[in-house]
Amino acid sequence: MIIAVDGPAASGKGTIAKALARHYGLPHLDTGLLYRAVGLSVARTGGDPDEEKSALAACYFDDTLLDDPDLRTEATGALASRVSVHGAVRAALVQRQRDFANQDGGAVLDGRDIGTVIAPDADAKLFITASARERARRRALEMESRGVAADIESIVAEIEARDARDMGRANAPLVQADGADLLDTSDLAIDAAVQRAIALVDAQLERHRKG
Ligand code: CDP
Ligand code: CDP
Repeated sequence: MIIAVDGPAASGKGTIAKALARHYGLPHLDTGLLYRAVGLSVARTGGDPDEEKSALAACYFDDTLLDDPDLRTEATGALASRVSVHGAVRAALVQRQRDFANQDGGAVLDGRDIGTVIAPDADAKLFITASARERARRRALEMESRGVAADIESIVAEIEARDARDMGRANAPLVQADGADLLDTSDLAIDAAVQRAIALVDAQLERHRKG
């Protein structure tokens, strides 16, 4: 069983994907971490994230980078969004994601192109969204909990710039996949969003079973 969860930054897709994995007893992969590792690697080696060759070289990163404390910052998110426009970078990361999706028993993956490119035949697909302001508020809370000062207006601007790049790129743009259910979490607490996600996945699985 493959469950594909896509959506923009801070929509809650990671939280929902993790909860679905727990609920259905499946392993989970946050595919954004792979693009973040490429972004961080290119920056640390003095490469140019906007140059395809340079970004491609960074795809062969050391897996210890996946535990780096800088991996989850908004600055690394922006770098990830810049390296991920390149077709060669996406191609270099496809196999690892498909292998994870196709392991025995199945998996839950979250990202931007899981339901469209990585696992278009997934058994269930969700597209998670929320308003840019609510997503910025969530990021600001996360920063403040780490003791980092957060300016909502600049976070809204960063999130909107990242959305525009992810939705506007030619390679695997962020878009609601065919067959994906839309879940807007703007006004939902985490528990309510998770319950809604489980109900949508159950309904899709039931529809698939009936063929
Ligand atoms: O957690 P958040 O939504 O902020 O970001 P992420 O999922 O870690 O992804 C960081 C960036 O990687 C995104 O803005 C995308 O540009 C890129 N990405 C992608 O292109 N395809 C994926 N499957 C996952 C992430
Ligand atoms: O993976 P993605 O970047 O889409 O978002 P996330 O990391 O799952 O969620 C971003 C932040 O919003 C986290 O701090 C979550 O706890 C919070 N959140 C929320 O407040 N309400 C939701 N319905 C979902 C997530």
